[in-house]
Amino acid sequence: MKQGKFITLEGGEGLGKTTNLAFIQHFLIEQGREVVVTREPGGTVLAEKLRALLLETQGELISDKTELLLLFAARAQHIHNVIQPALTRGAWVLSDRFTDATYAYQGGGRGIDVATIAWLEQFVQASLQPDLTLLFDAPVELGMQRAKKRAALDRFESEQQAFFRHVRAAYLERAQQQSERIKLIDASQSLAAVQLRIQQWLETL
Ligand SMILES: Nc1ncnc2c1ncn2[C@@H]1O[C@H](COP(=O)(O)OP(=O)(O)OP(=O)(O)O)[C@@H](O)[C@H]1O
Ligand SMILES: [Mg+2]
Repeated sequence: MKQGKFITLEGGEGLGKTTNLAFIQHFLIEQGREVVVTREPGGTVLAEKLRALLLETQGELISDKTELLLLFAARAQHIHNVIQPALTRGAWVLSDRFTDATYAYQGGGRGIDVATIAWLEQFVQASLQPDLTLLFDAPVELGMQRAKKRAALDRFESEQQAFFRHVRAAYLERAQQQSERIKLIDASQSLAAVQLRIQQWLETL
């Protein structure tokens, strides 16, 4: 059966995920691949509506459980309608965030236990896992500085420093536990140095 590769980009705010997604997309297109670029939460019309609900800062408070379930609802839709069909026809899928972000933000940041997230992951994804995950890592302050140059902060970006330190720690713990799949990228380096590392990891695929 033809099967493409699934690559996810992870890490805290402002550390270069979106910037390097475009770099990877061009790199793969040059190799003659069909590339599907997508993001989470989001990636389908319905999942993008759920994203908007998750990121808005106005209105009713969203409980931690509701947040977790909305994220996995969006993910189920994204996998069913976009990711799995693309992989099956042999395309490479690049996603700006995926389930590692749920372990980092809802697990590390909000304090939801790992077993609950793992149960939902199994229910929604079955055996689907990324082939490669690039984790952009740098001190929280650096990402904040870079992200600040952009528009108004969303609901996650408005969290306190301590939240982001927990997110970073959870990401790093996961990278240690799943070192075969998750590759750490030192995001404090120059963009050229970062892209050289990314290219090296892509070549291993
Ligand atoms: N290695 C780098 N050195 C210097 N600046 C960088 C580097 N990587 C990215 N930037 C800049 O930092 C800013 C944030 O990058 P980007 O939007 O790609 O981050 P992100 O991880 O997608 O953030 P978010 O999680 O908030 O979407 C951009 O202005 C980008 O040009
Ligand atoms: Mg981004």
